[in-house]
Amino acid sequence: MDIKNHIEELRRELHRHNDLYYIESNPTISDIDFDKMMKELQDLENQYPEYYDSNSPTQRVGSDITSSFSQQNHKYPMLSLSNTYTINEVREFLNRASSILKEPFKICAELKYDGTSVSLTYIDGKLDSAVTRGDGEKGDVVTANVKTIRTVPLILKGDYPQEFEIRGEILLPWKEFDRLNKEREAQEEPLFANPRNAASGTLKLQNSKIVASRKLEAILYYMLGSELPSDSHYENIKKAQEWGLNVSKHLKLCDNIEDIETFINYWDKERKNLPVATDGIVLKVDSISQQQKLGFTAKSPRWAIAYKFQAERAESELQSVSFQVGRTGIITPVANLQPIQLSGTIVKRASLYNEDAIKAFDLHIGDICYVEKGGEIIPKIVGIDLDARNERLGAKVTFISHCPVCNTPLIRYEGEAGYYCPNQNGCAPQVKGRMEHFISRRAMNIDGVGPETIDSFFANGVLTNYSDLYSLTVERIVNCPRIKSSDIYDYEDYTSDNTKDQKIGGLFDNIVTQPAKAKSNRRFTELIANKIIKSIENSKNVPFERVVYALSIRFVGETVAKKLAKHFKDIDSLIAAKYEDLIDVEDVGDRIAKSIIDFFSDNRNLISIEILRNAGLKFKIDEIVDDAEKSDTLNGASIVISGTFTKHSRDEYKHLIELNGGKNISSVSSKTDYLLAGDNMGPSKLEKANKLGIKIISEDDFLKMINQ
Ligand code: IVH
Repeated sequence: MDIKNHIEELRRELHRHNDLYYIESNPTISDIDFDKMMKELQDLENQYPEYYDSNSPTQRVGSDITSSFSQQNHKYPMLSLSNTYTINEVREFLNRASSILKEPFKICAELKYDGTSVSLTYIDGKLDSAVTRGDGEKGDVVTANVKTIRTVPLILKGDYPQEFEIRGEILLPWKEFDRLNKEREAQEEPLFANPRNAASGTLKLQNSKIVASRKLEAILYYMLGSELPSDSHYENIKKAQEWGLNVSKHLKLCDNIEDIETFINYWDKERKNLPVATDGIVLKVDSISQQQKLGFTAKSPRWAIAYKFQAERAESELQSVSFQVGRTGIITPVANLQPIQLSGTIVKRASLYNEDAIKAFDLHIGDICYVEKGGEIIPKIVGIDLDARNERLGAKVTFISHCPVCNTPLIRYEGEAGYYCPNQNGCAPQVKGRMEHFISRRAMNIDGVGPETIDSFFANGVLTNYSDLYSLTVERIVNCPRIKSSDIYDYEDYTSDNTKDQKIGGLFDNIVTQPAKAKSNRRFTELIANKIIKSIENSKNVPFERVVYALSIRFVGETVAKKLAKHFKDIDSLIAAKYEDLIDVEDVGDRIAKSIIDFFSDNRNLISIEILRNAGLKFKIDEIVDDAEKSDTLNGASIVISGTFTKHSRDEYKHLIELNGGKNISSVSSKTDYLLAGDNMGPSKLEKANKLGIKIISEDDFLKMINQ
């Protein structure tokens, strides 16, 4: 078979398996085999760029090219739907349609997905373009980003029309939304308020590699074109499904208002179990010729209407307002409410956003607040019942001027709505939050130490700062009382008037902590203490870039930390860097540069770094790993890494394996060539490797093998 045919065959097979996996939910090959096929195609495409095809399955991984979007006119304008909120309004819609049509008609009832809309054009069965709604007349061309969405087929199967458009909603499933927000929280990036904002924000990213990593979904619900297969919208959607398109699955043809009401009532409850956000039902006259008869008003079709679900709302009395202090010192006002039932959970607290919101509500203690839990996870206060106010109304709520924990005057950064406590090194939640960040998996990855341990150590004066970690001893830990998570001090309980200072000693001897809570009888045992000391020891292998990330320099997330490490190569150059040097680094702007300078101008941070340096942490990039040359010494050998190592980290070994022409494999099988074994490796892996006669090598053996 010649190369071109082989490439085409691979593309066909990969499209088919993509369809089986993402559309049919019936995969017939393993992920590994799929990846192998993809790798083969990628290699061939690199080798033979003349056979490039923008719809090749390899194009889904996204490209690094960043470009602003071009705009394209919509062939058919992208209109919106008029909204209704009651079944009576639905009845009126049906009557209006009936009086124009003067004949029976069917209604297709379907879910109204709450994402961002997009119009896909397929020509000759290939995805040609994807355009956002924009102003309804023209939108942004986001084809490259949409191509990264696995549920959007690049190539169709079956008897599709030569050219057609299909519109739908781009969504971020709840699970992905939660994951993304957790990740953003860790990176100190602003959180997305709801999946809709997250989906539209993601679709507009310039770097499609990041888009690819976010696992968007597309659900399609409206087909347009001059040669559609049927006069029925319902039938067309079913056809689209046969061509491999991910269409809305929950459609129901209704003959009368009773059918519609049953559909609405069912989904009003059942939608809570869907993986994506919905905010209502769409009702469409099913016949396309009848749709044409009904036509459009300037803004919306006369043949369709949206019925919006009531955002669940409850009323509750405001009992107090708390001010939380976050890891970065940000102050968040939270309303404490008389507990109420809302969307299946009991709500006691609701977000009050910031000072501006409190002012806008003219909020008073005792106010009856309207609370909603719409697309958002955190309930929010959407209004106040002013009529319910009486002479018993309590005090006006004002924003605090001093930190509720350490009493430092708060500051407001230019252009930001929030207030911060600037006492980074002296305010307990900030110091403790930074320790939790320091030990976290993506930073120093100190196994066996979690927020509970940090809490216990902090409350008992065993740790006052992350730099204390490396001088911990077994003796110091053993018998330290353990705090259960239920005892963990809850900053949300702090109101501006109940601050009780409690000071503890150490390098940062003026940290204000919380009043001690009831202590449990549990204590750290010698076994656990030994484990903790061992993982702290192991963390000394963590590469420089992750140490930079672990330091908690405000606004320095993982990506920026990596770029700083690569650019400056060691901590002394980073500390000495001037503003101009810093903004020279990719992704570092004014805000980050200033924050880095601030961080290193605080003597306490410099002392911490010295302590960490003396403890043996990596404060320069690993020349061997970073400057190692490519080779094919390992000649495609499959290597499984297991356990912990002393000379390099696992990530570095993975990098070295690939750099030297080997393959990283996650589990031992008969195809494994070597098992690179460190300390504490899993006994089952070892047993399996022995059974299969796989060569077990130490890190020294491995370094010898690659001539280092
Ligand atoms: S049909 C002429 N069907 O809701 C409009 N729209 O405000 C045809 N939407 O722009 C749209 N689910 O972004 C249709 N099943 C569904 C939908 C849906 C969500 C969105 C869409 C539309 C907006 C209307």
